[in-house]
Amino acid sequence: MIRFEHQNLLYSKDLRTAIEPARLKDYTEAVLNAHAEIQADRRADILGFYDLPQKDIFPITDFMSKIDPKFDTMLVLGIGGSALGNKALYNALKTERNLPRKVYVYDNVDPIFLHEILREINLETTLVNVITKSGTTAETMAGYMIMADLLQRRFPNDYHQRMIITTDREKGFLRQVIKDEGYPSFIVPDNVGGRFSVLTDVGLVSSAFAGIDIDGLLQGAGEMAELCAEADLMHNPAYLNGLLHYLYMREGKNISVMMPYANALYDMADWYRQLWAESLGKRRDVKGREIFVGQTPVKALGTTDQHSQVQLYTEGPYDKVFTFLSVDNFDTDFIIPNLHPEREEVSYLGGKPLSKLLNAERKATEIALTQAGRPNCNIIFPRLDEPSIGAFIMMYEIQTVFTGKLLHINPLDQPGVEAGKIATYQLMGKKGYN
Ligand code: PA5
Repeated sequence: MIRFEHQNLLYSKDLRTAIEPARLKDYTEAVLNAHAEIQADRRADILGFYDLPQKDIFPITDFMSKIDPKFDTMLVLGIGGSALGNKALYNALKTERNLPRKVYVYDNVDPIFLHEILREINLETTLVNVITKSGTTAETMAGYMIMADLLQRRFPNDYHQRMIITTDREKGFLRQVIKDEGYPSFIVPDNVGGRFSVLTDVGLVSSAFAGIDIDGLLQGAGEMAELCAEADLMHNPAYLNGLLHYLYMREGKNISVMMPYANALYDMADWYRQLWAESLGKRRDVKGREIFVGQTPVKALGTTDQHSQVQLYTEGPYDKVFTFLSVDNFDTDFIIPNLHPEREEVSYLGGKPLSKLLNAERKATEIALTQAGRPNCNIIFPRLDEPSIGAFIMMYEIQTVFTGKLLHINPLDQPGVEAGKIATYQLMGKKGYN
């Protein structure tokens, strides 16, 4: 199970600007209210992500056991919540789990990006997975039409066995395409919002294809959901972290930096960026009053960004709160050879694992930030495996909804994205959008 080290979010000698632990008590009622609202939302069946650990994965495992073994690559077409989780899961686990199959994610409409992917993959051995909850997203529909056309022309006899579609159970244009063309299909459940959907078919199908143990992901998520079931802050890491981030937001720390010390977790920080930004960045509260809230999520990479961003983080404005992601044990490692034992400039590194240097540098950044009075916390993955990743995802989904409740906003909608979608339809000449 992952561990949450939060002591550097609370008051200490160095962290003069941090939150006094005693202050948390003042929020007992707010926490209980937020918890009660979450329970009510669960009863109203709009927070379906909580129940995904109990999901029946047989349709996925059964499908995977029957696909043609020639398929060694999956190309996901999707965007936002229908893409970021796929990338995050695959890149977190591909090396440490030595995954046998590849996953590419095309989550843009950039022609060069598509060209590069098509140049790298072998179409003959690629299964395309179109993912869109609404079935209307312009980016995904453009990708779908390009790829469906390509497959139909190149494989006229069995193109419908080379594409699968993940969309709403009943609604939408793509459900009709599935019926007309006979593409295999999976479901984005009604009661799970796009950016909360990584543990539905949206993220599990590409994961199972790659060779990720999806049962292990759900098991870890289930353990975290259980841990976060009560409103007791000291035993509920999602609520505690949510409350602390909320309090820092109120003190003007409107930037939340997530800094994995593991390249494999960099896309997990990207997944977090969408979850935190789209859920909490809101103009109005639930009563319709203008409040303009949110905390800008930023991703940084340790150690790389120590040589790019950490100067700003330690000496710049006091407007940030930091989250490190770190890994205790790397299965893939190197011992740095003691190539120049006589030279003290480098001999201290000799004979030590590269991962030890990585984790020492993370600790060093934590110390530097703390001494500079910058609140920070650390989420520790014992190793990069499915239960840890599943637990992390569930913790952040719960934390996001809980923080939304403290802010009195709706963390499940995204009205600010609509204007851009409508303008795109107008610019591209969609009927009814003049
Ligand atoms: O969180 C969300 O709802 C969005 O980010 C969506 O995931 C994104 O816009 C893609 O939508 P769809 O799956 O309908 O294509």
